[in-house]
Amino acid sequence: MGIKVAVSGKGGVGKTTIAGAIAISWAKQGKRVLAVDADPVNHLGIILNISKDRQPTPLSKMSELIEERTGVAPGESFGKLFRLNPRVDDIPDKYSVVNEDGVRLLVLGTIECASSGCFCPENALLRTLIDHLVLEIDDYLVIDLEAGLEHLGRGSSKGLDILLLIVEPGQRSIETADRIKTLAMELGIKRVEAILNKSRSPNSERLMKSRMEELGIPLLGTVPYDQLFEEADINGVSPFSISRSSPGLNALSEIAVKLNRYQPS
Ligand SMILES: Nc1ncnc2c1ncn2[C@@H]1O[C@H](COP(=O)(O)OP(=O)(O)OP(=O)(O)O)[C@@H](O)[C@H]1O
Ligand SMILES: [Mg+2]
Repeated sequence: MGIKVAVSGKGGVGKTTIAGAIAISWAKQGKRVLAVDADPVNHLGIILNISKDRQPTPLSKMSELIEERTGVAPGESFGKLFRLNPRVDDIPDKYSVVNEDGVRLLVLGTIECASSGCFCPENALLRTLIDHLVLEIDDYLVIDLEAGLEHLGRGSSKGLDILLLIVEPGQRSIETADRIKTLAMELGIKRVEAILNKSRSPNSERLMKSRMEELGIPLLGTVPYDQLFEEADINGVSPFSISRSSPGLNALSEIAVKLNRYQPS
């Protein structure tokens, strides 16, 4: 089985950039990788350097697929019974798009409902799919989550090898990390480790390290502030379309190698 990680953290800390870079590094090591975009703002395809016209349609928007699998179309579930365990095993291959490095990208999309426990066909499909990806498939898996852990049920949480908490220098990021760690423990996630991103000075790095220690979150690695990422974002392109080597990308590929130590023997 490959390693299964989910990436979380405060808005804008670098979750998508890091998820994409880890996926690409693993693919370059010859692993079979599936990257899952579970953020409502779908951006992972850009980081993976997949052009706009090739990006997969979010599964939450595929009404016909949802109806075919659950028996009920989105928006029509009121008073109707739908399958809670729809067939999903063919979805990763059928609905993913492969990038130039061989990373397959699956885009989940957003479910328009009031609560995370929403009882609707779209949610039944996506939750069953995430459980399947985490618990059944052999691929290396990277899930780009939004700041909360709404997409994860108890089953898939227990199957994750590690939740990567991305932090940047600053108090708000630390507070979010603390909150997410508590949620992760409630969900039964086995291991939570932090990546310090956008680090600019040894001094703030030291301070952040000690704050993470106080919170009991081990630091897996540090990624320096990298001009390449800023330049790529201003131009709306992937950093990988500009360069394959930079201080930030190199640090992330070292982190991807470190993650391999979690490989079950
Ligand atoms: N190490 C870094 N150095 C410089 N800029 C970075 C670094 N990592 C990420 N960025 C920049 O920070 C911004 C946010 O990155 P990204 O979109 O990956 O964050 P996110 O946590 O996924 O955001 P969101 O919460 O909106 O999904 C982007 O402009 C990105 O280029
Ligand atoms: Mg993002």
